[in-house]
Amino acid sequence: MKIISSIEELRDQLSGQLRTAFVPTMGNLHEGHLSLMRLARKHGDPVVASIFVNRLQFGPNEDFDKYPRTFQADVEKLEKEGVYVLFAPTEKDLYPEPQEYRVQPPDGLGNILEGEFRPGFFNGVCTVVTKLFSCVQPKVAVFGKKDYQQLMIVRNMARQFALPTQIIGAETFRADDGLALSSRNMYLSAAERAEAPALYNALNVVANEVRSGHLDVFQLEHKAMDDLAARGWKPDYISIRKRIDLQPPNAGDLAQGEPLVVLAAAKLGTTRLIDNLEI
Ligand code: PAF
Repeated sequence: MKIISSIEELRDQLSGQLRTAFVPTMGNLHEGHLSLMRLARKHGDPVVASIFVNRLQFGPNEDFDKYPRTFQADVEKLEKEGVYVLFAPTEKDLYPEPQEYRVQPPDGLGNILEGEFRPGFFNGVCTVVTKLFSCVQPKVAVFGKKDYQQLMIVRNMARQFALPTQIIGAETFRADDGLALSSRNMYLSAAERAEAPALYNALNVVANEVRSGHLDVFQLEHKAMDDLAARGWKPDYISIRKRIDLQPPNAGDLAQGEPLVVLAAAKLGTTRLIDNLEI
């Protein structure tokens, strides 16, 4: 595997490649990321991964500085997956001057759910993803469904800008107890790790209620949040949305069986976890 940090060198290395499959990451790779690499392999060749902890998508009080950085271990995992190039730019490589041009998603999608609790997050994501796409010029790019809103925003962005990159969503990789794998799980204490699957359980309770015809969305969301709070969590949201645009379903949508997804974000101790489940 070639490890490349400069944009110019990356372009040289990939010149003439028309079927590149790309997996952008922020490192601290776990089985979830590796499943994205495997899916990428099915959709293109060569597989290119990136590791870049993108300052633009972190708020001033978020965990940019303490975000886990495990470069050597990541390299070994990617080698085993047969990744052809790892693009690992420094901040100077990717942002040699302040990144003043930004890609701003529409408020209706970028400022709801995660965007409401992490202002500027999706601006940072869209900006770096656009720049990474410009460097790698992939035919396909793989994003996990765990970051459901991110996947939808990137997909819409690629469509609206007519980017030549097809966006592929990968199923969430879960531990045996249901917890979605995430780099942030490593912040959890042993006791918190034991409690953490309660988030996915809460999503399942909501999804099962909706499936069995309980359509009082407001009541379901509030009960789920209250139940988590009673276990010591601090929920930001548990929200039932339409899969198509992440807007709340109205009575007509519910009656007509509009495809739904329930999304959640909640803090356990100081660790903020997100998860979602298609209903
Ligand atoms: O999902 C992530 O790890 C990041 O948001 C991404 C897509 C690599 C952009 O920094």
